[in-house]
Amino acid sequence: MTRFMKTLLFSAAAAGAAVVGIKIKNKRLRPANVAKTAAGIVKLNIPVTGGYNNGAALTPPMGWSSWNTFRNKIDEDLILETARAIKASGLADAGYVYVNIDDCWQSSMRDADGRLQGDLVHFKSGIKALAEKVNALGLKLGIYTSNGTLTCEDLPASLGYEQIDAETFAEWGIEYFKYDFCHNVPIPMRAPYIEKITVSREGTEIAEFGCDEGILSGNAYIIDDDKLESGKFVAGLSANCGAIEFPDISAPEDGEYVLTLAIRKKSNSNKYAEILVNGKDVYKTIVPPTRSFSAQGRHQVAVKLRKGGNSIKIYNPVASRQDSAALQYTAMGEHLKQAAERYAEKHNQPVKPIVYSICEWGINFPWRWGRHAGNLWRTTPDIKPFWASVLAIYEINVNLYKYAGPGAWNDPDMLEVGNGNLTYEENKSHFTLWCMMAAPLILGNDIRKLLNDDMTPDENNSTLRIITNKDVIAVDQDPLGVQCRRLKTNGIADTLVKPLSGNEVALCFFNKGGQPRRFEQNIAEIVCQMYVDLPYTDSYEVVDLWDKSAAVVEGMVSAEVPSHGVKIYKIKARG
Ligand code: GLA
Repeated sequence: MTRFMKTLLFSAAAAGAAVVGIKIKNKRLRPANVAKTAAGIVKLNIPVTGGYNNGAALTPPMGWSSWNTFRNKIDEDLILETARAIKASGLADAGYVYVNIDDCWQSSMRDADGRLQGDLVHFKSGIKALAEKVNALGLKLGIYTSNGTLTCEDLPASLGYEQIDAETFAEWGIEYFKYDFCHNVPIPMRAPYIEKITVSREGTEIAEFGCDEGILSGNAYIIDDDKLESGKFVAGLSANCGAIEFPDISAPEDGEYVLTLAIRKKSNSNKYAEILVNGKDVYKTIVPPTRSFSAQGRHQVAVKLRKGGNSIKIYNPVASRQDSAALQYTAMGEHLKQAAERYAEKHNQPVKPIVYSICEWGINFPWRWGRHAGNLWRTTPDIKPFWASVLAIYEINVNLYKYAGPGAWNDPDMLEVGNGNLTYEENKSHFTLWCMMAAPLILGNDIRKLLNDDMTPDENNSTLRIITNKDVIAVDQDPLGVQCRRLKTNGIADTLVKPLSGNEVALCFFNKGGQPRRFEQNIAEIVCQMYVDLPYTDSYEVVDLWDKSAAVVEGMVSAEVPSHGVKIYKIKARG
């Protein structure tokens, strides 16, 4: 855990407001933001404000990833061959620009500076060189790691190396970053017990405050332990339940100071605290388990103070696994943004934003906090190349429409079109549903197989025809950035509606059943949905986006849809 112990200065805008309840005399109030819902679900405590706003992924990102087909069997030749095939097949022209290396690109050794490096045999030219070659084809390179101690394939990951890894990726020219959740170590909910704080500058103490001189809020309370000479310490700071604040710490000049927390050793686990200085800078710190002779210990954090009076507030905002994940992913997002900006500044070039893909499989409700942390978030467990998996993922993701929007997308995982035993209808449905759900379109098939021997597109290849259907892709990429809603379902037959720019809509019939099924949809019913901007009129132009037929429709759109199949239409008002 030592790697995890370093403190991180972190922009306070989001994390700063660890608002806690107020202690009135001896009565302790549960702070409002630690509430449990009636169902007993712990609500998110981390205050989230604004969006991630890195200027990337304003429409769902499109590209390819090595994982679904190649797993750990990847090397730089495969990545380059795939990039060339993306270009030669017309996929690049269709919008697929990110070439993402998933797990297994890393050496198990960091270099002498602690930086990740490509596998020394399979990526021997280095990732920067690979990025340059991919860029020369007009494409962008993506990369992967995990926020735990190791990746899902047990290779080095980023816990404790967040800043250095973000900087390395920016220096390599990475433009898409997927951050997994394997070997995750949650941020502790416990806070340390604090006896006193001292502030020093260049080895000289300039201030000391006992815990009983601080202002307590929430459940914070003083324990007067008269068995020890020093007596008192503050407890009740755990799990977003309380805080202690020292409101007036005088510093002789602006600069860096050492804050020493005198800790009462009482617990055998890691503890976490955030230190909010002057209501704006947050320093995060892990206090290690205590297994030693002394009852007291000290824990130091470097903080910036300004000349004159300063306030220091200490608390632990983490009251659930959800808070922990939100904080960890948010912190990495900040590092990525800062690294991209710093690199651009240093080289006097425009910022290359890094699309930030959060991959914690939906277990910590990332749709609730993801838009503030990154550009997209996985909503489900891993996809597999068979129908039951595609369907199960769709059923979860389709309900999350209200969280998606430009720069912030629900991610129902990478495409399996062309993989496993999906039939032609199933491949088409999988692709269409992902487009209706404004999902990132990250291909997972072997792109080289879409080409003839002479490196030209194989026109008979149904996978290629599906994934380059420009009209269906346009539904996914529509600049309005609205995910479809399920207008109706009987469990077997779903009717989906996705508002499009220009007062148009996409309508999709999806037949999950084992038999062909007839669908009928009155356009007037679509028009009167509050989220739709299709005008009321006498007739509509309805274009079938797979067979490309167009019809003028006055009332009802109807179709026979095969088993596991879809129909998708674009509808606009005539004249
Ligand atoms: C997890 C992710 C997958 C893939 C693998 C790599 O399972 O969800 O998408 O990245 O790890 O090990």
